[in-house]
Amino acid sequence: MDKVIDRVLVSEEEIRTKVRELGEQISTDYQDKDLLVVGILKGALVFMADLIRAIRIPIEIDFMAVSSYGQGTRSSGAVRILKDLDRAIENRHILIVEDIVDTGLTLNYLVDNLKSRGAASVKVCTILDKPSRRKTPVAPDYNGFTIPDEFVIGYGLDYAEQYRHIPCVAVLKREVYEK
Ligand code: PRP
Ligand code: MN
Ligand code: MG
Repeated sequence: MDKVIDRVLVSEEEIRTKVRELGEQISTDYQDKDLLVVGILKGALVFMADLIRAIRIPIEIDFMAVSSYGQGTRSSGAVRILKDLDRAIENRHILIVEDIVDTGLTLNYLVDNLKSRGAASVKVCTILDKPSRRKTPVAPDYNGFTIPDEFVIGYGLDYAEQYRHIPCVAVLKREVYEK
């Protein structure tokens, strides 16, 4: 992996600590509420698995798969639903779990889409936020780390579907995507 990693941006230890804090906060905020945690595949897979184990209240989980990035490093802005929720969400409190908020286009679409189905509330928890790249004004309700505008991989994040399994968040070497 040293061949593709420029440097580690967020270590496994930093992630572990932050996920614990987020889980505690969510457990407090949603106490006595019917919470459905919705992971956005594929990027959120790793964070979702860690986060739900840090939540101390009863929850249900579901997944959606949407795609806007294709093979490249840029967002096209065109959101497609590849896999929808299994059940209706009317009057339920929804927490969307994402790996990263970049342009915000994916989230903007998802929040509107889930609200239109009659959810009681729709909030967002992301492990990474890259606010300098926003094309639409969306802000996560829970955020792990605010990061600079660099192409990052690992902890679920891919480049051309690779490197999702790297356990930390790392900056991809320029030569990997410029060659
Ligand atoms: C990535 C990432 C977010 C979204 C963020 O997903 O996981 O879902 O892009 O970008 P945005 O804020 O510019 O919309 P991607 O579409 O690459 O699919 P993946 O999760 O399967 O990698
Ligand atoms: Mn994604
Ligand atoms: Mg991707």
